[in-house]
Amino acid sequence: MSEQTDLPVYGSTPATNPTEHTVPAKVTVPALMARKGTAKKIMCLTAYDYPTARLVDEAGFDLILVGDSMANVVLGHASTLKVSLDQIISATRAVKRGADRPLVVADMPFGTYHVSRADTAINALRLIREGGAQAVKLEGGRNRAHLVRALVDADIPVMGHIGLLPQSINSRGGYRVQGKTAAGARGLLEDALALQDAGAFAIVLEGIPAQVARRISERLLIPTIGIGAGGGCDGQILVFHDVVGLSFGPPPKFVKRYANVADIMRKALGELLVDMRSGEFPAALHTYQVSEELPENWDFDL
Ligand code: KIV
Repeated sequence: MSEQTDLPVYGSTPATNPTEHTVPAKVTVPALMARKGTAKKIMCLTAYDYPTARLVDEAGFDLILVGDSMANVVLGHASTLKVSLDQIISATRAVKRGADRPLVVADMPFGTYHVSRADTAINALRLIREGGAQAVKLEGGRNRAHLVRALVDADIPVMGHIGLLPQSINSRGGYRVQGKTAAGARGLLEDALALQDAGAFAIVLEGIPAQVARRISERLLIPTIGIGAGGGCDGQILVFHDVVGLSFGPPPKFVKRYANVADIMRKALGELLVDMRSGEFPAALHTYQVSEELPENWDFDL
């Protein structure tokens, strides 16, 4: 039988957040929209699990995206196409347990809004009801506006996503910066206006020249969140693992790396390995003791 203990098991994270972690002013969709036209930038980051969500919340970010970038940075796939709806739902649940204040937005994975309006609504509802997300995000502009409208009509807040679209890797032949020409820039503005008309509450602008993203942001009544789109957007978003140095290989040009957590982990794991090998770990400090003197023969008859 296992020993009963009230010590934390597997990490010192309590099942519920301690009160000092609770910040009262929860970010809502209307609160985010009200930032448009103010000097208050909207700060966003991805997260896919409980500890990361807690850290992102504690740091003061406004929005957490449970992005399909999870496919790359957590699951080790080469593209975002492989992550499933169930995986995003499970990650969103964990993020919700760690995030009190930020708005939690769940990405709709590839294939979950590509068949029909009904399918799209059913899948988005699962992200809200089972995952606990407060909003969903999907990629595309004019070609997806009818789906955004269907979700908004079903009371599901939607964040749009235009420009470089990782889910379009096959149809576009790779990851390409969009809107570099006048025609391309016009097309992006048309996409943005169509999403706004369809009821999106914000739009991610990814991989777009800074001048174009700034102009689109000026023309819209809803906030824009930039990633590789310069400083003229209403907010910014990056992938958590890129920022802290937990993704492998050189980060994209638009990423600023603020730490090298992989190196810190490598060092810690190397030291643990040495201690395990030598018997230095576990020391008395990390070892339980009996609470009474055991008789000599306590195990003789077994
Ligand atoms: O999946 C993702 O991480 C995204 C970006 C906007 C960061 O869609």
